[in-house]
Amino acid sequence: MMTSAQLRQSFLDFFAEKQHAIVPSSSLLPDAPNLLFTNAGMNQFVPIFLGETACPYSPPRAADTQKCIRAGGKHNDLEDVGLDTYHHTFFEMLGNWSFGNYFKQEAIAWAWELVVGRWGFPAQRLYATVYAPDRSKHDPAEFDQEAYDAWAALFTKAGLDPKIHIVSGNKQDNFWMMGDTGPCGPCSELHVDLTADGDTNGALVNQGDARCIEIWNLVFIQYNANGDGTYDPLPARHVDTGMGFERVCSIIQGTKNFTDFKNAQISNYHTDVFAPIFAKIEKLCGLKYCRTLPVSGLTRLRGQERVDVAFRVLADHIRALSCAIADGILPGNDDRNYVLRRILRRAVLWGRSLNLHRPFFHQLAPVVADTLGDVFPELRKNAALIV
Ligand code: GLY
Repeated sequence: MMTSAQLRQSFLDFFAEKQHAIVPSSSLLPDAPNLLFTNAGMNQFVPIFLGETACPYSPPRAADTQKCIRAGGKHNDLEDVGLDTYHHTFFEMLGNWSFGNYFKQEAIAWAWELVVGRWGFPAQRLYATVYAPDRSKHDPAEFDQEAYDAWAALFTKAGLDPKIHIVSGNKQDNFWMMGDTGPCGPCSELHVDLTADGDTNGALVNQGDARCIEIWNLVFIQYNANGDGTYDPLPARHVDTGMGFERVCSIIQGTKNFTDFKNAQISNYHTDVFAPIFAKIEKLCGLKYCRTLPVSGLTRLRGQERVDVAFRVLADHIRALSCAIADGILPGNDDRNYVLRRILRRAVLWGRSLNLHRPFFHQLAPVVADTLGDVFPELRKNAALIV
């Protein structure tokens, strides 16, 4: 079974083989003025997409794992954290980019080659979504026939019906924007059916159901959003993909390399990414994590449910805090610094559900530095500051 470190490396190796430059994650402190935190792998490449900066890679392709925080602004998952198995404030996004080079055909073919061919995801559990504008809502652009045809050829070759395995979505689900302004375009996502029998025929796609989750978003950057609902075509067409690293880990590890979906407990938190943090929390509070999920929402949490939400919140939030502080964003009184302070307070408050009343949170920081320090060395360099 692949470890998370092997999975990350496998993604990067695959795209290195496809002649991508492997680049470092950019800082969580974004260059773009309209973002609170770096929220996607493409942020660092915005000037290239806009044609303001020449692409430094030859061929013009790149891949990386990017630190992302989605806790404010257009992409905000903060309120979901702890309540489910797959939303985070901080996560790693694996991505590959084409800067005016390859486009939909290659992006889709390589996504399939990696996910199905190399990693072994069962094709019958995969669903691709493609962009279909809702004209009544004045959605931009056209139906993405090119993406549809590329996926259809792959599903057909695998003996699967494209009409079942390709699902259309309008601007809300299938048109990706970094913020209200900036490079954007139609997107095509891969979703995985995680049910015991894998026979939902696409009914759970985009229904907010943990039994069918998106793992990879392929964005075809073609426009610049002006912020007033108008879109200008960009000088060139680009590819921008984002894969949820912890989600892919959860599926591979939770199903023991796709061998057991019946007894699988698929959760980002049941992976080697989070295990050392959970072990430390158990040690600090003397309580056990039992993997329960809230049945009836946040307000009626009882007993073990409350304990398990607290474990997940603490494990998520220490990663966000550690990585943000490592990049020089400290908890404070306004703007993005205040978002961090709120995350910190939220963690400390949830600590009380684990009977942690004295300062404890800083003791989790070294575990994050241990688990992620090889990938993001700034965690080790700034360990003392973070604590
Ligand atoms: N930029 C692609 C994504 O964040 O999904």
